[in-house]
Amino acid sequence: MVAAGAACGDGSAGGEGGDGQIVLGFSQVGAESGWRTANTKSVQDSAAEAGIELKFADAQQKQENQIKAIRNFIAQRVDVIAFSPVVESGWDTVLKEAKDAQIPVILTDRAVDSQDESLYETFIGSDFVLEGRLSGEWLVEEFADEPGPVHIVELQGTTGSAPANDRKEGFGEAIAADPKFEIIASQTGEFTRAKGKEVMEAFLQAHQDIDVLFAHNDDMGLGAIEAIEAAGLTPGADITIITIDAVRDGMQALADGKINFIAECSPLLGPQLMELVEQVHAGEPVPKRVVTEETTFTQEQAKEVLPTREY
Ligand code: AHR
Repeated sequence: MVAAGAACGDGSAGGEGGDGQIVLGFSQVGAESGWRTANTKSVQDSAAEAGIELKFADAQQKQENQIKAIRNFIAQRVDVIAFSPVVESGWDTVLKEAKDAQIPVILTDRAVDSQDESLYETFIGSDFVLEGRLSGEWLVEEFADEPGPVHIVELQGTTGSAPANDRKEGFGEAIAADPKFEIIASQTGEFTRAKGKEVMEAFLQAHQDIDVLFAHNDDMGLGAIEAIEAAGLTPGADITIITIDAVRDGMQALADGKINFIAECSPLLGPQLMELVEQVHAGEPVPKRVVTEETTFTQEQAKEVLPTREY
């Protein structure tokens, strides 16, 4: 536990909105995936419900846009800044500017690699290493009786982003359990469906012997499925597919047998984020790290939960 943003505890440094409302500046990564759309909705709905005035900026997957947005929030004297960093590195300067302006910062969804933890109050989001590890462990168990080699292609998320770095690490750790698992190609699909399809097409042209696809999110997996079908192969049978997120379209493909396993990454961070915003603004202590609770889904489990899936 750490002491949080004393600067705005009395509201003196902040720019409270009408009727003493807390003003939150939020810089979103973009709109690259179904996950991101659900996350944006969760943040917007929760802010409205909590009576927090939200200043929302879409960075279109560019770090320079996020830095600009954060500087704008500082100039506007918002009460709290929250953002989901596109990539892990390169935030110290702008975070110091927020600190100097006595505006507390909350990281949501993705981490930064800053050594100075005083630059932000808390980080709420998933354990991406665990998501990768659970994906790899499922594969190791599923292929336990296969003699190997097992040829894997990997569609990575945005280069330099925390989920791409961490999911790769966790998956790699798990499959290291048996040398028969071999990653024969690994490239970024930028977390989008279009790029996932394009890169998978290239993988299929370069390799005749792909057994498994590990995609760092559902959207890239769904794009890859289009490429696999266009190549005359059956996704989920000819190529085993593992993805991360468990958004509705991914869960539908899992239930339909086109994906084999999904590790969940919940985008519903809004309600907890607003609680943290209120606590930080009030100068109350908050945990330095809030880990989102998540699960995993097989094809059978997807069929059960699909009818009530929220996103
Ligand atoms: O940071 C979370 C990741 O970003 C999600 O897994 C992915 O779909 C998104 O674009």
